[in-house]
Amino acid sequence: MSTLTIFSSARTPEAAAPSATNRPIPAVLGADLEVPVKGGRLVGYANLDYAASAPCLEPVSAAVTAALPAYSSVHRGAGYASQLTTARYEQARHTVRAFVGARPDDSVIFTRNTTDATNLLAGCLPEGTTTVVFDTEHHASLLPWRHAVRLAPPAFPGEAVRAADEALAAIEGPKLLVVTAASNVTGELWPIAALAHIAHRHGARILVDAAQLVPHRRLNLTALDLDYVAFSGHKLYAPFGAGALVGRRDWLAEGEPYLKGGGAVRSVGESVEWHDDPEPRHEAGTPNVLGAIALAAACDALTATGWTALVREEERLIARLRSGLASIDGVRELSLWGDDHPRVGIVSFTVAGYSAREVAEALSGEYGIGVRDGKFCAHPFVRHLLGTSGGASDGDCMDDTGSAVRASIGIGSTQEHVDRLIEAVRDLVSRR
Ligand SMILES: Cc1ncc(COP(=O)(O)O)c(C=O)c1O
Repeated sequence: MSTLTIFSSARTPEAAAPSATNRPIPAVLGADLEVPVKGGRLVGYANLDYAASAPCLEPVSAAVTAALPAYSSVHRGAGYASQLTTARYEQARHTVRAFVGARPDDSVIFTRNTTDATNLLAGCLPEGTTTVVFDTEHHASLLPWRHAVRLAPPAFPGEAVRAADEALAAIEGPKLLVVTAASNVTGELWPIAALAHIAHRHGARILVDAAQLVPHRRLNLTALDLDYVAFSGHKLYAPFGAGALVGRRDWLAEGEPYLKGGGAVRSVGESVEWHDDPEPRHEAGTPNVLGAIALAAACDALTATGWTALVREEERLIARLRSGLASIDGVRELSLWGDDHPRVGIVSFTVAGYSAREVAEALSGEYGIGVRDGKFCAHPFVRHLLGTSGGASDGDCMDDTGSAVRASIGIGSTQEHVDRLIEAVRDLVSRR
């Protein structure tokens, strides 16, 4: 098989548009992991920490294993294995493009993760760009901008659109609205279509942080008229160190190369001629080929399963988890827009009489349940939700002052995991 046959097979880039085939939901690695709890007993691990990093899907692991024997350099080698690996890497780009419904002329740049993607875009903004960002963002989307206008957490979705409208209207020059599609704290979905519309009415662009959306819902960049999306492979069941920035070429083609080195240049003499194609321009050095292959395999696996089945199962489990927690005295779920607002499989909560760290440690040590505790790298938002004040002493993402517990689910989560969490929290509360 040659490189040419790879691209002329049924899986040509053009043929790679997502089409669900409704295959069974794939398995994740580690579903049978056992962990020690108090007293030395082993119990099946209840992984309820998907929003931090999701386990690897079996088809992802299989794709990486299949690519390894021919693994070689990309873009530089004449050897057969190099050509094959290069073809696989570029095919991964097409798969990712199709997965997020990007326009044919959008760039797909492989990054390390979402943080890397937002920082890459920040370095490419035209001179004098003002960024508008809500205080509800993850730090990856809150912090990279040189000139930022920060908006208070909006009281309801329409208020988000109104506040963005007002802020963008007041800005002269290039502007970028940055917004998360699904909150990593509450799981709540943001009105990204309406925000894109408002941004464009003011001549602004919009970057959507889709780190917590793409593992749970289909995203179509073209239909939503988004300019850029960023996401991470490790939250999308592909923990091999790759993420992506997808979107309009022009700013990326003109921005400072993200890394300077081999691959990003056309020629080097007295002066340096950089590539103006965004992909090579911002992917200097040897890229994370296996990460890209893994990411594409995850995209393929989710698409083949079909979102209907995935969303139905997630909604069933998350409804059970939320109503179970709500039935326990002293447990408070964090929410910006109320109980009925649509959300993905993420629930953050506090337990009266316990710090978040005490709850998380007890859940792990006594019940074999893995959750996240802290401020989830979203300090202003968590402070707002908890009604606590912050400042220089606010600490890092793991600081326990004014923190919450977060349970998050995805493919491989079971009703037993959810019920175990509810009963464990009930048990903790009864001991207070
Ligand atoms: C909404 C959101 N954006 C960005 C990030 C940063 O992702 P990464 O750590 O993969 O860069 C996270 C991680 O938790 C997130 O939840």
